[in-house]
Amino acid sequence: MRERILAPSILSADFTKLGEEIKRVEEAGAKYLHFDVMDGLFVPSISFGMPVLKSIRKASDIVYDVHLMIVEPERYVEYFKNSGADLITVHIETLKDPEAVLKQIKDLGAKVGLALNPETDVEKVYPYLHLIDMALVMTVHPGFGGQKYIHDCTSKIADLATKREELGLDYDIEVDGGIGEGTIDEAMDAGANILVAGSSVYGGDAYENAKKLMAKF
Ligand code: DX5
Ligand code: ZN
Repeated sequence: MRERILAPSILSADFTKLGEEIKRVEEAGAKYLHFDVMDGLFVPSISFGMPVLKSIRKASDIVYDVHLMIVEPERYVEYFKNSGADLITVHIETLKDPEAVLKQIKDLGAKVGLALNPETDVEKVYPYLHLIDMALVMTVHPGFGGQKYIHDCTSKIADLATKREELGLDYDIEVDGGIGEGTIDEAMDAGANILVAGSSVYGGDAYENAKKLMAKF
């Protein structure tokens, strides 16, 4: 079985004490920290960007998993890498030349992620799977934390796991949106091994909540 990793999303954290919020989940055993970047164009909301990443990079050696929900991500990937991103995920819906952008991320020395929205057919990412380290299946419409898991998206996780076998590839599968104690098993059973959790971790005691979710691994 592939290693299962919890990736708490700080979108739902208390920004007045972000450093502590990161430490709490790290102490609980989370290996990734999920950093949601929103531009108000690709998604309705605006979150945070490079200066915040650069600042919190100093708080921890955890893997910074940067999820770019922005148009024209090729304009920004280098800045996010230089601000401390270990893994950079871009959305297939935002890419005019997916191959070029995925290679650009790799050449910068970051791990490469490719995400798809709930309404995007999984086949759209198939031509690029050999270029990525991680596929990200959105199980809510991106833009906000705290939404309900869309069960119809689970089959895409399974499809990506099957395709990985067929093609002899080695990418991880991350699931993002609505993951909590009631949904994490469904995503893991389908083949997801990197589990993003925002409100279900930071909606209360982050240490305890992260522990509870990882107990399901
Ligand atoms: C949504 C973001 C998610 C968000 C998940 O657009 O990509 O990473 O933080 O939040 P929850 O876990 O609350 O659905
Ligand atoms: Zn995300």
